[in-house]
Amino acid sequence: MFSSALLSSTLTGDVPEGFVVRPLNIGDYDKGFLSLLSQLTRVGDVTRENFVTRFRTMADTRPTSYYVVVIEETSTHQLVGSATLVLEWKFIHAAGARARIEDVVIRHDMRGRKLGALLNRVLVSLAKLFGVYKISLECKDSLIPFYELNGFKKDEGNNFLVQRFDKDITISPTNDTLETAPEVEQSKI
Ligand SMILES: CC(C)(COP(=O)(O)OP(=O)(O)OC[C@H]1O[C@@H](n2cnc3c(N)ncnc32)[C@H](O)[C@@H]1OP(=O)(O)O)[C@@H](O)C(=O)NCCC(=O)NCCS
Repeated sequence: MFSSALLSSTLTGDVPEGFVVRPLNIGDYDKGFLSLLSQLTRVGDVTRENFVTRFRTMADTRPTSYYVVVIEETSTHQLVGSATLVLEWKFIHAAGARARIEDVVIRHDMRGRKLGALLNRVLVSLAKLFGVYKISLECKDSLIPFYELNGFKKDEGNNFLVQRFDKDITISPTNDTLETAPEVEQSKI
């Protein structure tokens, strides 16, 4: 998805023996990637073709905006962790960029071994390398202590607002077009 040269040992720091930290590959469809994500949220029906199309959409952004970093267990060749850094390019802050951390998940049988902390550290280091002016994420209250370990702080005085359209709108992974439910007008997208 992006150059593995970015994930130098200087950037990743110590990686426990038996694991590698690397960019998501197109072959990871066969290494348990979707099953891993299903331990974070609903994944739905994503065929190999859907996966490849979405992978290319993300990988082809210029400048690259999506950095899906995974942890592979070398003995089984299966993925045990994944987290995404998204860059958002701006006019403000001298045409700068901000970063967001998304979709952090460690396979349930691998939790508690500091692999989640490792992924977060790697994404924060990547974001710093790109010179972003800020990095943020959304999480449940119970996970605030986990993220605080990597330097995040609750942004007192600011709120996170949301409207959920999950039930009305789906993105078709095959052609990357928005499909609206019949009762939703296009103008509301
Ligand atoms: C959250 C998650 C990624 C943590 O991964 P992990 O590899 O088990 O966490 P680590 O072993 O790296 O934990 C690092 C530290 O965070 C703490 N921590 C981990 N999960 C925590 C939790 N749910 N609540 C509070 N602290 C937590 C650990 O105790 C550890 O603290 P320590 O260094 O003082 O011992 C993992 O539990 C997971 O995949 N959960 C399901 C998906 C999810 O909720 N993702 C987050 C979406 S925002």
